[in-house]
Amino acid sequence: MSKANHAQWSSRFSFILAATGSAVGLGNIWKFPYMVGQSGGAAFVLVYLLCIFLIGLPILVTEWMLGRRGQSNPVTTMSKVAHSAGRTRAWALVGVSGVLGAFLILSFYSVIGGWSLYYTLGSVTGDFSGQTAEGIGSLFEGMLGNPGLLLMWHSVFMLVVILIVARGVTKGLEGAVNIMMPALAVLLLVLVGYGMTTGHFGEAVTYLFSPDWSKLTGETVLAALGHAFFTLSLGMGIMLAYGSYLGKEVNLIKTARTVVIMDTVIALGAGLAIFPIVFANQLDLASGPSLIFVTLPVAFGNMTGGAILGLMFFVLLTFAALTSAISLLEPVTEFLEERTPLSRAPSAIVAGLAAWLLGVAALLSFNLWSGVTFFDLGIFDLLDKLTSKFMLPLTGLGAVVFAAWFLSKEEVRAELELGDTGFGLWTLLTRFVAPIGVLVVFFASL
Ligand code: PFF
Ligand code: NA
Repeated sequence: MSKANHAQWSSRFSFILAATGSAVGLGNIWKFPYMVGQSGGAAFVLVYLLCIFLIGLPILVTEWMLGRRGQSNPVTTMSKVAHSAGRTRAWALVGVSGVLGAFLILSFYSVIGGWSLYYTLGSVTGDFSGQTAEGIGSLFEGMLGNPGLLLMWHSVFMLVVILIVARGVTKGLEGAVNIMMPALAVLLLVLVGYGMTTGHFGEAVTYLFSPDWSKLTGETVLAALGHAFFTLSLGMGIMLAYGSYLGKEVNLIKTARTVVIMDTVIALGAGLAIFPIVFANQLDLASGPSLIFVTLPVAFGNMTGGAILGLMFFVLLTFAALTSAISLLEPVTEFLEERTPLSRAPSAIVAGLAAWLLGVAALLSFNLWSGVTFFDLGIFDLLDKLTSKFMLPLTGLGAVVFAAWFLSKEEVRAELELGDTGFGLWTLLTRFVAPIGVLVVFFASL
């Protein structure tokens, strides 16, 4: 092939930033704080941490390990690695499902990214100032009902994603996360700092960290497990793709530990930023998109310094969404780059435009096409459910089952630099605990 050599991350640190950038998204800033609050505070956090370390981390390491062995896009990687282990190339299907899943998620993730951009602008132009809950509610509904508006912001968001990914791994992905991840951390710190001045910080801490075991049900455990998967961006070919740019010298387990800790710290930080504002303004801890897109703007519109805090919050949200979106476009781009005659930039453009087009169908399901349903779901919800309930768990399951049962144990052990006890634990987790955990969530959520 006449194409350039396979890219490599410039350092372990850049890789950590990029992987954390993928992991940190709406799942951390909006979903996790709300889930914690609703599900028993510290009790839920404990279950979640167990799920993250016993199931999430092993699958994360597995995806990176496979990607690093294959040094290719997820499809070629799975086919290559399976073949060289003397197994059928049909394992490539795991990669296919990963790339397809990333593509489908990107289409509707970009629509939400567009909301975030629209709200960022809204904070600048003072759309929220002095608004009542009804006022902001109708602003949100008005946005959903306006296809032109949604289309414009979805397009802007996708354009930025394409421009970043087209520039390649070191210039594009690393360049973006090098700016956006530190900015995200600073913004979050300032917002948590503000929370401390509200006089309601203690309340938020209690809400997040004091265990209420009575609220812990089977359903909560399932939610914690499902979220562990989602929050680490597993099962989407992303970590397979990101692993393919890794050098042999990186210790996968230590690196995974760092990424998992950062993801969790940012999720908890988001709770410490959001809840004091919610309590200080006696707002409703409503679930769903309304917590961020309706409830919080009401507070920003009515408090001193709210304009600037609101702006900071939505810039934070936009950065979190962008760094996740580029990680979704990456596996698809890498696939086209390696499996078609297209080079890097055209691959990113073709993949991004195709996802953009599907995203247009998704955004129309909020308005003009609201009557178009499949299995009672609109296009947006269908894409969401199809990926999060089916493709994500099955792809992750395929990857971990393959690595645990079909690769040479000695090679895996050497690659992960594990001693006897460590490898015993690894085998137990990847052969039994993780696959069974995933299957339980999969069937329970049907
Ligand atoms: N990990 C991201 C979050 O927690 O928001 C969400 C996500 C991004 C999930 C990309 C899946 C994905 F492929
Ligand atoms: Na996350």
